[in-house]
Amino acid sequence: DVDPIYERYADSFAIGAAVEPFQLEGESGEVLKKHYNSIVAENVMKPISIQPEEGKFNFEEADKIVKFAKENNMEIRFHTLIWHSQVPEWFFLDEKGKPMVDETDVKKREKNKKIVLKRVEKHVKEIVKRYKNDIDSWDVVNETIDDGGGLRESQWYQLTGTDYIKVAFETARRFAGKDAKLYINDYNTEVEPKRTELYNLVKDLLADGVPIDGVGHQGHIQLGWPSLQETEDSINMFASLGLDNQITELDISLYGWPPRPAYPTYEDIPEERFQAQAERYNDLFELYEKLDDKISSVTFWGIADNHTWLNDRAEEYNDGVGVDAPFVFGRDYKVKPAYWAIMD
Ligand code: G3I
Repeated sequence: DVDPIYERYADSFAIGAAVEPFQLEGESGEVLKKHYNSIVAENVMKPISIQPEEGKFNFEEADKIVKFAKENNMEIRFHTLIWHSQVPEWFFLDEKGKPMVDETDVKKREKNKKIVLKRVEKHVKEIVKRYKNDIDSWDVVNETIDDGGGLRESQWYQLTGTDYIKVAFETARRFAGKDAKLYINDYNTEVEPKRTELYNLVKDLLADGVPIDGVGHQGHIQLGWPSLQETEDSINMFASLGLDNQITELDISLYGWPPRPAYPTYEDIPEERFQAQAERYNDLFELYEKLDDKISSVTFWGIADNHTWLNDRAEEYNDGVGVDAPFVFGRDYKVKPAYWAIMD
């Protein structure tokens, strides 16, 4: 009986949610259809799910999400073609099964680099060919910047420098066509030193002719961090390069860093925390709306408080006991104060 969120923002940007295939059914499926007009896979489109072994592509779970989205007229974000995490080890092994990063011979390192780039190309090509008519926005590469600034020293980077980024984007463009929207995605894009580091990387890549259309700002944030000013400046910085912005993984944790102590159960969360969260959501969506010519979608990293990676994180830092509550729908899919805050 409450109004759909996506209709409220129809003039500004799409409203998305991250899902696992099992959430397409039952009550979560109903909430998804009603409130969101965009969808992204929380896990099943990552390299380890799609190509667990070299040459063995598995599209079964990803297909379920694509089918659901098409049946319900939703946009689809693809997450993620290339990432350093949830990537199978075979990408980085030589023909003898030895980790390529251990190779010291210069000639062999050159050869290994070519092999890795071929693997990137093949992975991207097979996926993009299959889904090019279905996907609206692609996370081509995820989390290239190190938390302390500088480029992330992943195996991708150690083996190819920034060439893996280049090859991934160029291959995506080649097979997805000129209308596909290609994003570089990361977290903490609001704050220094990551913000400037990402800005410089993207600027250099663009100057080099790499086909990047936009920046994905994950948005795993807290009640008091980062500031609205930093958030606004970041969107403006990337827009000044002629790029689109998308908020790709929004959730507002109840905690600081580390998430300790955490409330042991959902019932332990005081009402004033939900009110503070509603105010934070209010301020944030007011900002997004103000910048809506620079933001084409806002995606939550989940549907409702009953399923969020932040619960695992709260447990991890609190001896296995702890919950978080980052969304605008509660554990029972009922609206929270945050829902009214973004609908007003
Ligand atoms: O698939 C296995 C399953 O076979 C096994 O039984 C089970 C037992 O723990 O684990 C399952 O894998 C888990 C997977 O989620 C699917 O549920 C992994 O252990 C778990 O680590 C993985 O966590 C995901 C995480 O990315 C991995 O880094 C979270 O669900 C997902 O929300 C999170 O999403 C990331 C974005 O992709 C990138 N940005 C940050 C964001 C939050 O960390």
